[in-house]
Amino acid sequence: DMGGHDTFMHKEISEQPDAVDRVLRGRIDDRFSTVHLGGLNLDPREARTIRRIKILGCGTSYHAGLIGAGLIESMARIPADAEPASEFRYRNPVVDPDTLYIAVSQSGETYDVLAAVQELKRKGARVLGVVNVVGSAIAREADGGMYVHAGPEVCVVSTKCFTNTVTAFALLALHLGRVRDLSVTDGKRIIEGLRKLPAQIEEILKTEEQIKEIAAEYAGAQSMMFIGRVRGYPVALEASLKLKEISYIHAEAYPASELKHGPLALIEPALPTVAIVPDDDLLEKNRAALEEIKARSGRILAVAHQEQAKADHTIVVPKNEDELDPILMGIPLQLLAYHTALAMGRDIDKPRNLAKSVTVE
Ligand code: M6R
Repeated sequence: DMGGHDTFMHKEISEQPDAVDRVLRGRIDDRFSTVHLGGLNLDPREARTIRRIKILGCGTSYHAGLIGAGLIESMARIPADAEPASEFRYRNPVVDPDTLYIAVSQSGETYDVLAAVQELKRKGARVLGVVNVVGSAIAREADGGMYVHAGPEVCVVSTKCFTNTVTAFALLALHLGRVRDLSVTDGKRIIEGLRKLPAQIEEILKTEEQIKEIAAEYAGAQSMMFIGRVRGYPVALEASLKLKEISYIHAEAYPASELKHGPLALIEPALPTVAIVPDDDLLEKNRAALEEIKARSGRILAVAHQEQAKADHTIVVPKNEDELDPILMGIPLQLLAYHTALAMGRDIDKPRNLAKSVTVE
């Protein structure tokens, strides 16, 4: 049942304020400025001995893991990174007893992720799951973890589950941070930010008409470039994947800082750039990248917290805490992919060549 929407994708994008509310519900502890994660199965003493965190997933779940790694590093100061699960499996990884492994999956059935979990467990590692589907294979195989409570996701491309997974990582990062060295003040600040998310997502969804008009301009593009820096880079990766999957427009994502090391050669009026430009300590750096693109007559769409002079269009999103901004900045770009694909007459819920869950190798 699409509940009045034309596609499941549109329904699922629209459900995000409620979905994010669900992932937060019952978990926030104001007394100690932390969160409770019942199923984690990781006592504070163990949480304090973790030396590294390695996050594994595929596709959109891998991108959510990249943002998750950033959240963990900034709030808990534990070195963390994310890697595609299949790459990890096939490189005979060094499995380290002081590393906590986290498997990320919407379906909980993705074969490459499941096989990575089984290999890790065979070698004695501790593996947590960040999973949407309750009771799924990865959830059962993991030593503990958290459900992201996005609710059923029907569309082949993931939207609300991405947003909820990233929010779940923010909760995990806050929890680990508060067990370690994150201050009460910072804990409070993050909690306040988390509580603002549902209403801010609601606000972003109201910009749909503006995004639809911008999408009409991009519908004919051969190729598009997505750029971001640090926290913004995984947002760019995910936005570029979304566009490819449903519009079949070729898209690339690059860290903004890498532009001058090669991809700048591609910039010309026919290759539009989408830039993630949050109002944080990297604002001036990001603006410099916009200038470089403009100097080569590239068209620019900025997703930012204020109008960007160098951009042809800016989608202005509400500001949250710097750490939590990536959760919001991806949402207008789900709508951009959606309306671009719609303008091109694509079958949005069932893109060619793709399946909702990839349960084979
Ligand atoms: O169910 P999972 O999260 O494990 O699925 C992983 C990927 O196959 C999935 O995210 C895929 O990239 C989607 N089509 C993204 O929209």
